[in-house]
Amino acid sequence: MGWKTLDEMDLAGKRVLCRVDINVPVDKGKVTDDTRIRRIVPTVLDILARGGKPVLIAHFDRPKGKVVPEMSLRVTLPALRAALGRSVTFVETLEALEAGTEEQGEADVLLLENIRFHPGEEKNDPDFCARLAGLGDIYCNDAFSAAHRAHASTEGVARLLPSCAGRLMQAELEALEAALGTPKRPVVAVVGGAKVSTKLDLLGNLVEKVDHLVIGGGMANTFLAARGIDVGKSLCEHEMTETAEQIRLKALDLGCNIVLPSDVVVAREFKAGAENETVPATECPDDAMILDAGPEAVKRIEDLFAGAATVIWNGPLGAFEIEPFDTATNAAARAAALLTKAGKLISVAGGGDTVAALNKAGAAEAFTYVSTAGGAFLEWMEGKTLPGVAALEG
Ligand code: 3PG
Repeated sequence: MGWKTLDEMDLAGKRVLCRVDINVPVDKGKVTDDTRIRRIVPTVLDILARGGKPVLIAHFDRPKGKVVPEMSLRVTLPALRAALGRSVTFVETLEALEAGTEEQGEADVLLLENIRFHPGEEKNDPDFCARLAGLGDIYCNDAFSAAHRAHASTEGVARLLPSCAGRLMQAELEALEAALGTPKRPVVAVVGGAKVSTKLDLLGNLVEKVDHLVIGGGMANTFLAARGIDVGKSLCEHEMTETAEQIRLKALDLGCNIVLPSDVVVAREFKAGAENETVPATECPDDAMILDAGPEAVKRIEDLFAGAATVIWNGPLGAFEIEPFDTATNAAARAAALLTKAGKLISVAGGGDTVAALNKAGAAEAFTYVSTAGGAFLEWMEGKTLPGVAALEG
């Protein structure tokens, strides 16, 4: 790995520009999930412990280069202060920081207002990058989840200052490397979610790297349809069946075993508690839709996990947000969690719904690593270079 960690930096007396991702869900002016905030704590405290002066730089939502008061990062202050256990000074403008009006004492943490209020941020404008670089001595990127953006605060400034990865970035990259870079084999990937069309690159990359690829959720229906199976009223991208077939053939060629559900849970309505039945995947009634994988399919997945050394997971296996169609996701997640706890499996998960699904299953805690990243995790799983990581590598 060509990037430095905080251990390799001399921080004493230095102002450290620390890019964090505290783009957290907020409802009625309150942070409703502080996971991302809690995850940056080790980095900030480490910078302080080494005598550095952290200035946190972050974005919130997508203000598109304009000041949008509802998108102020001020909303995160109470949660940030609580997580860090110390006071955090909010700095409204770059000018205030430049003018030194914000005195930064030994133990102080500064948080800069939403960096996306500046048009230069998303454009990765060289002048804006230079301006940012002028605010500090060292750059520390702890925002893996924003590393797929080539913005001034995630990419440009890294090239202008001595740079390193923060603890969270380091943990993410190490976990991802263990899961897909140089993994212990066999590797099982679980990919679920609604659509094949949004995960084409991901599937294409995974069949080259993993031994078994379990496909679940709505996208499994498209793969079933590609094999001529009637999926009734199920969510299915019929226009993608040819692509699905190409992925299957590529997998066959590369020796990657694609696993589709052999049995499925079907219902006539998409709602919690809807009357349902379990049928072979080849026998979905015309007027029904597939909402979950069946028990036989789950058993197959559990067996694969039991024989695997590494599991990488993105996306639920069924309509996990409505019971009882969360059954397959819960069971498979718990199986992976148990094997991980027993020291038999390395399990890494991330991306959008996945974290919610694993939390709901009560399995997230036991996983080796659960990424807080959405888009960045997906792009990384697609095998793409993340600009924020590449910039740290110099
Ligand atoms: C995220 O929430 O996934 C990151 O903070 C990136 O946000 P963005 O998609 O607005 O760049």
